[in-house]
Amino acid sequence: MDKIVDVEICTGTTCFVMGAGHLMSLAEELPERLKGSVSIRFARCLGVCSVPDNGRPPFATVNGALIENASVENLVAACDLLLSGEKGMNYETV
Ligand code: FES
Repeated sequence: MDKIVDVEICTGTTCFVMGAGHLMSLAEELPERLKGSVSIRFARCLGVCSVPDNGRPPFATVNGALIENASVENLVAACDLLLSGEKGMNYETV
């Protein structure tokens, strides 16, 4: 069975104002190598925006690991890293 990476994108007000809108197109912008291996969900608020130590919105999670200042590029990179099986993904887990 192929590995599936779970991406959850926050579309809450804080994240949306800080740029989450561009993450809505992640599915269309996924490289061919990732299509079929990434599940994308949207959340109203991940509940981490009120804690300054969590970093800068917009937020997303990749297999439960928090990604701050999320962009299509860093979400694709996180998916690639997880699917490659390489060690080194060092994001705080929510
Ligand atoms: S609005 Fe995104 S974590 Fe709260």
